[in-house]
Amino acid sequence: MSDAGPLPEPAVVASGLTRCFDGFTAVDAIDLFVPRGDVFGFLGPNGAGKTTTMRMLLGLLAPTSGRASVLGIDVAREPRRVQQRIGYVAQRFGLYGDLTVRENLDFYGRAYGVTGARLRARRAEAIAVTGLEGREGERAGRLAGGFRQRLALACAILHEPEALFLDEPTAGMDPLSRRDFWDHLYALAEAGRTVFVTTHYMDEAENCRRLAFLQDGRIAREGTPDALKESLGAQVLQIDCRRPDLALTALRRALAAGALPATEVALYGAQVHVLAPDARAALPVAERVLQDAGAAPATLEIIPPSLEDVFIHSMRTASPERAPRPPAVAPPGEAATAGEEAT
Ligand SMILES: Nc1ncnc2c1ncn2[C@@H]1O[C@H](COP(=O)(O)OP(=O)(O)OP(=O)(O)O)[C@@H](O)[C@H]1O
Ligand SMILES: [Mg+2]
Repeated sequence: MSDAGPLPEPAVVASGLTRCFDGFTAVDAIDLFVPRGDVFGFLGPNGAGKTTTMRMLLGLLAPTSGRASVLGIDVAREPRRVQQRIGYVAQRFGLYGDLTVRENLDFYGRAYGVTGARLRARRAEAIAVTGLEGREGERAGRLAGGFRQRLALACAILHEPEALFLDEPTAGMDPLSRRDFWDHLYALAEAGRTVFVTTHYMDEAENCRRLAFLQDGRIAREGTPDALKESLGAQVLQIDCRRPDLALTALRRALAAGALPATEVALYGAQVHVLAPDARAALPVAERVLQDAGAAPATLEIIPPSLEDVFIHSMRTASPERAPRPPAVAPPGEAATAGEEAT
């Protein structure tokens, strides 16, 4: 890496950032480095400390210890300067339901000192970028969820911030709206803005340039999506069969008994994923288990791990209480909820 040139200019730097609430450590000495122009994904289960971290980075919450700078500004020393130069969509973003789309934008614009001709130009641009044309006169409280999120983004980019901090900005959005929303984010990143975003959606995580996975207030893993998959040091044995419920139960039982050379058995949509350091060695064992359990015929295929595999594994190894409970036969319909395990 010696010919990689100097380190890129940072948008976010944190060192030893910590926050305690009544003796409970919600964020535990985390270090962050996010270069300018990056799309940085901040992931982790509920209560991991994502929102708390973001609020500290923006000077909205004082750290118990540690330091942070955003866009080269020390957050503790000059929180207002940081806040003027960033855009923030909070997890529970405060739009004014009784105001129209246009009035909300004007309100946020003025709060950031954007007025007159600049406000009109910025408003038109924010509306165009977020696909809100034709809805300028609608009351925010009556917009469908996806459009409310777009309005939140439009308000956050009105003053042309250099960095955007988005806390689960697409929660509850339909897949098409989410894709549109992410297209806006890429366009902003292309234009040199930094995007720091929390999400529970693995497809969104896949699209970030770098990711940090927070677990119990600590960064458990960090890197590009590809590097994170490699860091797992395992492959996935993907099993497609008639009875994924039976397969899951039997494979977990074999894993618990030490008979299956694997580290994890999880539902993944309607399929079962067996995470194994050597999937070729696990394959014939799994085949036998499925046969004995009456879950055959099955198709077994070795595939590279997905981010969801990485994060489920991370969560289970960091918090043993999240490990799968002793097998109970689940109805086949439950397979569809497997994707939620990574949240
Ligand atoms: N003001 C507060 N007072 C006491 N505890 C708090 C406060 N804010 C957050 N916490 C606790 O700190 C921990 C981290 O919360 P935080 O909201 O940062 O998690 P998160 O990763 O954003 O979770 P989610 O995915 O649910 O949004 C939680 O246990 C939460 O209950
Ligand atoms: Mg949160």
